[in-house]
Amino acid sequence: RLLIIDFGSQVTQLIARRLRELNVYCEIHPYQNVTDDFLSEFAPKAVIFSGGPASVFDDGAPQPPAHVFDLSVPILGICYGQQVMMHMLGGKVERGHGTAEFGRAYVTPGDDRIDLLNGWFLEDREQVWMSHGDHVSQIAPGFQVYGTSPNAPFAITADLSRNFFAVQFHPEVHHTPNGKTLYENFVRLAGFTGDWTMGAYREEAIRKIREQVGDKKVICALSGGVDSSVAAVLLHEAIGDQLTCVFVDHGFLRMNEAAEVVTMFREHYNLPLIHADESDLFLGQLEGVSDPETKRKIIGKLFIDVFQKYANDIEGAEFLAQGTLYPDVIESVSFSGGPSVTIKSHHNVGGLPEKMGLKLVEPLRELFKDEVRALGHELGLPASFIGRHPFPGPGLAIRCPGEITSEKLDILRKADAVYIDQIRKHGLYDEIWQAFVAILPVRTVGVMGDYRTYDYACALRAVTSVDGMTADYYPFTHEFLGETATRIINEVGGINRVTYDITSKPPGTIEWE
Ligand code: XMP
Repeated sequence: RLLIIDFGSQVTQLIARRLRELNVYCEIHPYQNVTDDFLSEFAPKAVIFSGGPASVFDDGAPQPPAHVFDLSVPILGICYGQQVMMHMLGGKVERGHGTAEFGRAYVTPGDDRIDLLNGWFLEDREQVWMSHGDHVSQIAPGFQVYGTSPNAPFAITADLSRNFFAVQFHPEVHHTPNGKTLYENFVRLAGFTGDWTMGAYREEAIRKIREQVGDKKVICALSGGVDSSVAAVLLHEAIGDQLTCVFVDHGFLRMNEAAEVVTMFREHYNLPLIHADESDLFLGQLEGVSDPETKRKIIGKLFIDVFQKYANDIEGAEFLAQGTLYPDVIESVSFSGGPSVTIKSHHNVGGLPEKMGLKLVEPLRELFKDEVRALGHELGLPASFIGRHPFPGPGLAIRCPGEITSEKLDILRKADAVYIDQIRKHGLYDEIWQAFVAILPVRTVGVMGDYRTYDYACALRAVTSVDGMTADYYPFTHEFLGETATRIINEVGGINRVTYDITSKPPGTIEWE
């Protein structure tokens, strides 16, 4: 296995992701925990030093133990990892002063090509992503230069006799388009064959959950979404009936959704599941409320109260499980304390663990969305379930602008089911990030047969997106839109007019509220 020593870079986890893509098993450990004893026990086959915000000139600047250089294994230092390596091995690092470099840069090759760079310099220069204040001004004895950039004469260096490599840029980020090749070369020369799989990840995750939880009880808020479902199934495999799931059913779910979730988890997975059907409570509290933020706040608060009420009945629970993903972790790190404006109050159970005196288990914390899907697949969750469009915590309540009534929710559920059925029938479901119907708070006049109608109008929404942060409307054909509108009006009582929302995000948001 490979050891990544973390010096605090925002993108350390991306190194792990690149390695997982290469089917290499790695673990990230913060530098403070990496002692001589730790190294002996871990016995890494290769080591990577991550980047980090510190300067080797800072008091108490983070360092790996010197012993790491005596392990006779390949080492790759990245950015701060490069600087600390040079600093410790007898090179020199200097403060920025005009040579700081952020963003895109181009590295040109030195005279000799080395294995680390096989297939890398496809042209005479290679785009990389730099982000450094300090820089190496003199390389350590034994090192040679194999690549330079205008502001980083030592962009790529290596001591081939010891298999130590150091790069000033970040090969793990998207803006170093060929970065994966460097990692691939590095792990090959360290002797990894790339036989590690998501199946192995599952075993490892189970081992870690068991280690953390012991014989204690865990509660998990299961929403029926992909993340919480994968987390629940994984936890159940790890600790069996020490896990209880609470499915808070606020009544704003799609057609048949609650029943499907309950059947799947209770019957198929045999998972202890409490179905907290509190739809009357939620609908009652929202009576007369039409302001979107007020709706979100009421639902968020009730959700927590309801969850807590059911969870309190589970005796002796010490842990709360959450399906937090790595992007949530980076966002909360990089934006914490930042002056960002709240566009919408998002729905989550943050703050609950402290309030209830519970410890957190977050078995998906290291994964990206597509990896969670792969893990779900590995755990045997149905493909149709894993590939489902995202669905917001407050559910249909935020797709019903104006006051929410059970009549409108019924109409909305039916229209949404027809629309999704159309999309599936036309084979478009997987091309679309998210599609849904919003029922509008207006009624309009129509004519059906010889009768005047006065019914609700609805809006269809479908967007493409990579991460939900920005989005574009999906360019359905007119035939598709026409056919869908006809079906909705014919099959769903209460709707006599269908519109298509062609707003991108920004300026619109994906949901209507
Ligand atoms: P917006 O509407 O902000 O949505 O463009 C971006 C993505 O987030 C989803 N969304 C939510 N997800 N809780 C969630 O878990 C929420 O409160 C929430 N609000 C919006 C939305 O469906 C889209 O995928």
